[in-house]
This record gives sequence, structure tokens and C-alpha cells, in this order.
Amino acid sequence: MKDQDRFDTLGRLEDLPQDYRDELTRHNLVPLWPSLRAVLPPGVPVRKTQATFWSYATLRPLLLKAGELTPIEKAERRVLVLANPGHGLEKMQASPAMYLGMQLLLPGEWAPAHRHTPNAVRMIVEGEGAYTTVDGEKCPMSRGDLILTPTGLWHEHGHDGSAPVVWLDVLDLPLVYYMEASYHVDGERQAVKPGRGDRTYARGGVVPTKVFQRQDKAYPMLRYPWVEARAALEALAADQPELPSVQVTYVNPETGSDVQNILGYYALMLRPGETQHLPVRSPAAVFHLIEGGVDVGIGDQRFTLAEADTCCAPGYTAVSLRNRSAKGPAFLFIADEAPLHRKLGVFESRG
Ligand SMILES: [Fe+2]
Repeated sequence: MKDQDRFDTLGRLEDLPQDYRDELTRHNLVPLWPSLRAVLPPGVPVRKTQATFWSYATLRPLLLKAGELTPIEKAERRVLVLANPGHGLEKMQASPAMYLGMQLLLPGEWAPAHRHTPNAVRMIVEGEGAYTTVDGEKCPMSRGDLILTPTGLWHEHGHDGSAPVVWLDVLDLPLVYYMEASYHVDGERQAVKPGRGDRTYARGGVVPTKVFQRQDKAYPMLRYPWVEARAALEALAADQPELPSVQVTYVNPETGSDVQNILGYYALMLRPGETQHLPVRSPAAVFHLIEGGVDVGIGDQRFTLAEADTCCAPGYTAVSLRNRSAKGPAFLFIADEAPLHRKLGVFESRG
């Protein structure tokens, strides 16, 4: 008997007598076989995550409108969530483990200190003069900077500039919420401590050693300036013109591992006219365009990303990225669920 024949021959719920089904329900029991193939489909997982595109030009005026409609005191965090319709918008998730939100902070506003179990990062989209204070470290925000607010660390946002500041939040909230482990604690305004990780670890290949001792902080670096990541990509492209993919991973400079436990973060440069066909991998991924113009293919869907646009791709799906410009490079920020898949032993790359 072939596998497909076996699939077709599994018993259905309606094949069972109603009184038997009712009795199972009364005792909180469920027959597995009618649902077996739904939870263990052949070859490729069922994915609720749909290839979805969010235009910054569309969402920006709606976010600024939220600034008029809702004062920061009534929002605490003024965010429009980029929700994947495949999961249902009310679930506020982009993928199984990723939450995405565009957050607006207006000049003079302060988003008060709190800490929570989900990990967050910010990718700064526009504006100058805002800062995030994380664990007492004041991190200035500029376009393209990546700022971590790892699990359990106090963080608050302030804005001394003169124009709106917007950033993209990426959190592992859907997963932590699913695990029934998501909560927050409110705190007082933090005192700023001396020292900044982005200065301490500004040079590749060397780390501080206080009297031969390495740092044992879990999150030694909290701000990854775009100017440094961009320079690293350009140096890589210049040094190795034949390199098949110009990409860097945001890592903990003490351990070399991913910056956070659950989600992974990367920056990718597409040379003028370049097309990248990414391997088909198990984790879902998010693509946010920092500079340039890029055509994204996700399965049979096509999106054109302008600067600050964002899209998401389900796992086990072919993704292609094409730089629309024949003259200049394009730069993408990527977030994915690879660290989670690796830790759980379910990571797969099908090439
Ligand atoms: Fe937060």
C-alpha cells in the first residue's frame, strides 16, 4: 500500500457513532486518527504564516495619526502591529514566533521603564534624537541601528529631537505568550551608567579583558550601529568580490553566538543588479529594507520593497531577493526563527 492510499484510508470523525463521540467529549478525550494527517502532514508542514507585505508609505500616515489620536500616556507604547492575516490579525503575530510593530515616539515624549520576559529588538526606521535606555545604558537611535532589549532588562524610550521617530520592534512575544511565560513589570526611570557596548566592542577581533578576565554579561552589547554593520558589508564585498552572498549576523561579541536566544538577526547587502536565491529553510523570516529598492519573491508571491518596507515569509518556502538598481547596492535587515529551530533540533535547510 502506498503512503497516499494510507492517508486516504484513515477513519474520519463522522465515521464514528455520535453517542461514542459524545461520550469521549464528556471525558475530555479526542480520537487522534481523524486529525493525525493534519498535525503530521506528509513532507512539508502546514503553515498559517502567509507571505505578507507592509508598505511604509501606507502605514506611516496611520502611525502619525495615532500620534494625534492617542497621547503616549494612553498608549504607553504607541505601536501599529504588522499582523499576518494567516494567523488572524487579532493574534498580532507576523509568524509563529515573531511579533512586528512600528512604534512612534514624538519629540519630548517618554515611554516609561518596564521589563518583560519576551526579548525585543528595535530597528530604527526614521528620525534623530531619540534614545532607548537599556539596563542603564543610553543607546542613541539612528536609521538602521539595531538596539537589543533582551529578556528581563529594564528599558525605556525618550526623545530629545524635533521630529517624529519611528522604529520597527521585533519580539519573540508570540512564542513566549504561547508558552504562558509572558508578563511585564513596571519600573522607575533608570539612572544612566557609564560605558557603552558599541564602543567597548567597536573593533573586530578584540574584546576587553579586565586583568585577564572576560566579561560574563549575558548581553554585553546592546546597540549595533548601522554605520558599523554597513561598513562591514561593504568591506566584505570589496575584499571578496566573488563571495556568493554578502551577509553578516548580529552576534554576542563575547561568545560569537546569536545576540538573542530565540530570534536571529542579520544584515544583507545586494550588489548592483544582484539576485540572491535563499536556501529553503525551516524558520520563517522577515525582510526590512534599509537602503535601495528590492524585488522579493516568496513562493509564487512578488513584492517590491522600497526603503522602510517590510515583508515576511513562511518557513519551508523559496525566497529570492533582487536589487532593482544596476548602479548602487541595496541593504536589508533580516530577522528569523533560526536560533529557536536550532535549539529545538528542528532546523532544516533544503538548499
Ligand atoms: Fe518593552
